[in-house]
Amino acid sequence: MRLDRFVSQAAGISRSQARVLVRRGRVSVSGERVRDAAFAVADDARVELEGRPLALPQPLYLMLNKPLGLLSATTDAGQATVLSLLPPEIATRLHLVGRLDKDTSGLLLLTDDGAWSHRISAPSQHIPKTYLAGLAEPLAADAELRLAAGLTLRNEAQPTRPATLRRLSDTEVRITIAEGRYHQVRRMFAALGNRVTSLHRESVGGLTLDPGLAPGQWRALRPEECLAVLGD
Ligand code: URA
Repeated sequence: MRLDRFVSQAAGISRSQARVLVRRGRVSVSGERVRDAAFAVADDARVELEGRPLALPQPLYLMLNKPLGLLSATTDAGQATVLSLLPPEIATRLHLVGRLDKDTSGLLLLTDDGAWSHRISAPSQHIPKTYLAGLAEPLAADAELRLAAGLTLRNEAQPTRPATLRRLSDTEVRITIAEGRYHQVRRMFAALGNRVTSLHRESVGGLTLDPGLAPGQWRALRPEECLAVLGD
């Protein structure tokens, strides 16, 4: 990690304030004064600010019940994003682990641990995600078979990976997919000649949205929940 980023995160100050402190020679790394803000801090380095040891804050792992109508993005010029639901001092640290459409609700994960989010979102990982979907039309009789076989989505050559489906009523289903293509669930039902009218994510890997979280609410994950997402 760059030294200015380290100092900013560890001391809870802005990057520009951190750069000023580094340039003024107030920061040392493993006993040596360093004035280069881009200096790469090794994992085992001892960083001190004016002689006091600095340590990075513990990584954050959050689940949020995304309400309808907010964008899954960290910034947007015109529209409100899910980060507006969090205190600014936390929001600035976090990135989203995958996205939900503006008109999808449910389980969204946020963290500042890039390795963890990569293990969840990397296409090679195939972490299952379960959604509750409302449909415009009664579901076709062969939907389960077609989803299990893989569907070819519009403008895509590669069929989808097998997905599982549970019918809750004629027009309500629970679907589990192990990929994260753009608008994937909506496009899968479009390929089946149907249309999704509501979509809510219930779980990612072995982690289910806390039923105690109303739309817009969030909480930190417990260590065992961080592992459960990965199926560990
Ligand atoms: N699939 C979709 O179509 N939309 C989402 O938000 C998530 C999965």
